[in-house]
Amino acid sequence: LASEAGRLRVRLTAAGRRVRLGGRDVSALSFNGGIPGPTLRLKAGDRLSVRLRNALTDPTNLHVHGLHVSPEGAGDNPFVMVEPGDGFAYEYELPADHPPGVYWYHPHHHGTVADQVSGGLYGAIIVEDPEPIEAARERMLLISDVNLDGSGRIAVASPMARMLGREGEIVLVNGQVTPRLSARPGERERWRVVNTCVSRYLRLRLDGQRLQLVGIDSGRFRNPLEVEEVLLAPGNRADLLVTTRAGTASLRAAAYDRGGAGGMMGGAPAGSLSGAVLLATLAVSGDAVAELPAVSAQPTPRDLRSATVTARRELSFAMGMGAGMGGGGMMSFTINGRQFDAGRVDTTVQAGSVEEWTLVNDSPMDHPVHLHVWPMQLMEENGRDAESVLERDVVNVPARGRVVVRIAFDDFAGRSVYHCHILDHEDNGMMGVIEVR
Ligand code: C2O
Ligand code: CU
Ligand code: CU
Repeated sequence: LASEAGRLRVRLTAAGRRVRLGGRDVSALSFNGGIPGPTLRLKAGDRLSVRLRNALTDPTNLHVHGLHVSPEGAGDNPFVMVEPGDGFAYEYELPADHPPGVYWYHPHHHGTVADQVSGGLYGAIIVEDPEPIEAARERMLLISDVNLDGSGRIAVASPMARMLGREGEIVLVNGQVTPRLSARPGERERWRVVNTCVSRYLRLRLDGQRLQLVGIDSGRFRNPLEVEEVLLAPGNRADLLVTTRAGTASLRAAAYDRGGAGGMMGGAPAGSLSGAVLLATLAVSGDAVAELPAVSAQPTPRDLRSATVTARRELSFAMGMGAGMGGGGMMSFTINGRQFDAGRVDTTVQAGSVEEWTLVNDSPMDHPVHLHVWPMQLMEENGRDAESVLERDVVNVPARGRVVVRIAFDDFAGRSVYHCHILDHEDNGMMGVIEVR
């Protein structure tokens, strides 16, 4: 990891790795030997050079989730494939007005994304604030979940788990089981939380402590919002301020009902998805410190509610019985009736336009819809207007629901993808190709 003015150079090696998990030795995957991989810190206008080396036994590649960078060539190109033993040199150039916030990186090799991410291949990217927000400390909290098999390997997900979206019984924060954090009363901490889980939704709570939400994904509130809980779908990030009060608090995820197979898969378990779970504890004791002054107002993006919409389209997310699967009852996951094909362009967009997309969920479970490169602004959810303009790159579309977003394609042309961020659904074909030209 080397940084010079305006440029960060990193080598990332994806490899197998033995780790301690809940008192057991487990073979996992990691970038540079750590779970998570190294945190990459950037500023708007910076260049990021990543030399990826593939020391796995399967192909892989790299995606910088949420960064607003070119999808072409050696940029954030989801069509690059890196064979075992090979490498690839990625070059990313952040625009001078790139929004600050929490982003992350992970492999994006179609068909094995869920296995590789849940195996441990993920890390955080921070784009720093132009005007730092004062805090006693900053914590990264990358949350993941895994299942182990009898021989201490990360369990191979069953066909059923791949359809529902696998969830692990062991939920980890930075690769650890329920870590203990400590602070003094009155301190303000900055928490950067990433939901790296393949399918688990995290309804985060930290009862007894003051929680303020600075932003979600690349979106930011003008003033931090006082919250009781924050819902992070797979792929979402939260930028939080915690002002501590004496006592011991539990960081936990409350149960979230993300739907299920709705009888489409015979005896599929119902109601066992994204259950309540303890993530970490925060012990606050000692002498109180003086509270910091309130955070000043933050710049917010252009409000697309008043923009002229140049095109409208509808994307329908569905699951159905797959054909030609030998009658084994495999589900197929589709967008507008089609499964992913890297050689087909599903959506062609004119550069410079503002589009309005209606995301329709034609299935009994939630789908967190993710678009690369170009952030979405949430306009409407199930007919209700969104309360604030927030740019997001993963928007949850509730079971049988519909969500309206607007997207400004005002820079970067090229080919990229949108998909469900339940990575098992993406690996099962719920992904489409977009070309902006
Ligand atoms: Cu985080 Cu296309 O993914
Ligand atoms: Cu992404
Ligand atoms: Cu999905």
